[in-house]
Amino acid sequence: MSATLASAVRDKPTPVTAEPVIEVVDVTKRYGRTVIHEHLNLEVRRGEILALLGGSGSGKTTLVRQMLGLESPTSGTIRVLGDEWANMDEDTARILRTRSGMMFQQGALFSSLSVYDNIAQPFRELGKIPEDLIREFVMLKLEMVGLSCKNMSKMPSALSGGMIKRVGIARAIALEPELLFLDEPTAGLDPKASDEFVDLIATLHRALGLTVVLVTHDLDTMVALSTRVAVLADRRVLVAAPVEEAVAVDHPFIREYFLGRRGRRALQALPPERRAKLPATALEDAPCGPAL
Ligand SMILES: Nc1ncnc2c1ncn2[C@@H]1O[C@H](COP(=O)(O)OP(=O)(O)OP(=O)(O)O)[C@@H](O)[C@H]1O
Ligand SMILES: [Mg+2]
Repeated sequence: MSATLASAVRDKPTPVTAEPVIEVVDVTKRYGRTVIHEHLNLEVRRGEILALLGGSGSGKTTLVRQMLGLESPTSGTIRVLGDEWANMDEDTARILRTRSGMMFQQGALFSSLSVYDNIAQPFRELGKIPEDLIREFVMLKLEMVGLSCKNMSKMPSALSGGMIKRVGIARAIALEPELLFLDEPTAGLDPKASDEFVDLIATLHRALGLTVVLVTHDLDTMVALSTRVAVLADRRVLVAAPVEEAVAVDHPFIREYFLGRRGRRALQALPPERRAKLPATALEDAPCGPAL
């Protein structure tokens, strides 16, 4: 990561959590006869890092795609930055898309484009931006994610997993969005690359005042980054709260995910004032749950 950027924001307070920027109201989503979400409600507030958790197939990616307007709910409404996807004209939708950055779970980069062209792509889609200006933006984004400009002409196949994720983030923040969606950003990274990537997201969150929706299976990433977690189970959001409160909800997914040995160990990384609020069953040496 750019050491300069990290040190510049070290003393900056985290963005203040305030008004809702995404409102998911009574959403039901079906594919054919399969119900994925049923009367689901969720609010994402400005400045927060909301971790979206749930078992595989519980509908996390589907929910993110609806928030981005890439899929429509079968019923219910989704408002983003005050506008409802279903009632938006083309211009509003186009502007809203530039206000959201996304790193997808599958294929973070276009494999046939160089690092430079991958990051330049959102600018080119806007049209009418001179190439020398695009070049400056691309260099700036590369620096923000801690990559040397020497990597600019490399193809994705020549990059390490951690570098691919960094280029993916550089592209997601290219247009300086207010909202950043990350779907399994640390999947496939080794622990060191994963820790570095978590630091990068924390730095960018502060530097850019971002609101982040983070889908992750990784307990350490979730504990390190999230200000709140939203747990998807039984086709709805079971609870949306700081993790130390969410673990107190009595539900099989929560018991299995947070209160197994790995979950309890990960929760120990919470800052002391938040750790103090954990229920007794979430303490590291509590004799509960399977050894997950
Ligand atoms: N376009 C589609 N058509 C039909 N079914 C779909 C479609 N997209 C997703 N699904 C189904 O919806 C369910 C939820 O999928 P989704 O990808 O949202 O889960 P997820 O929580 O992101 O899972 P994972 O943790 O494995 O990424 C799955 O059963 C999936 O097969
Ligand atoms: Mg998914």
